[in-house]
Amino acid sequence: MSTDAIVLLKEDHKNVRKLFREFHTKGADQSQIVSKILEELTVHTYIENEVMYPRVRELVPDLEQDILESFEEHHVADVLCAELAAMDPDDEHFTAKATVLIENVDHHIDEEEGEWFPKVREALGRKELQEIGEQLLAAKEKAPREPSQPSALRKAADAVLS
Ligand SMILES: [Fe+2]
Ligand SMILES: [Fe+2]
Repeated sequence: MSTDAIVLLKEDHKNVRKLFREFHTKGADQSQIVSKILEELTVHTYIENEVMYPRVRELVPDLEQDILESFEEHHVADVLCAELAAMDPDDEHFTAKATVLIENVDHHIDEEEGEWFPKVREALGRKELQEIGEQLLAAKEKAPREPSQPSALRKAADAVLS
């Protein structure tokens, strides 16, 4: 099995996009699909935040702005995931919030795959990408599987702004 970082991350993207399509299927059990989406995104965001983004930032300084923008997009997704996790699926806002999460993440994945992953592949060697891939797999083992509480996110945001 390949441990190339970009290959691994794209596999995650493919899995989560499959869930996005299921969510929009007529008669889908949206509550159950959203739980799976939240788990996938929590793990994926964690391994990118902990490994991929810092390593790329360090090794490919030209991509600094892309990385900073991507961190912000993760933050928006984290907020929506936390709110959805705390929400009753019967709430009238549930489907709308999940749809906005899906639209945001779709756009984010397009930017990763279309704009800056190709530049990372160009800048780094195969060996480096494999080493980062191994770190991604290790981070996956200890990643949280459930979104944070909205209150924890608020505290984290306050800490950044104070
Ligand atoms: Fe990402
Ligand atoms: Fe990603």
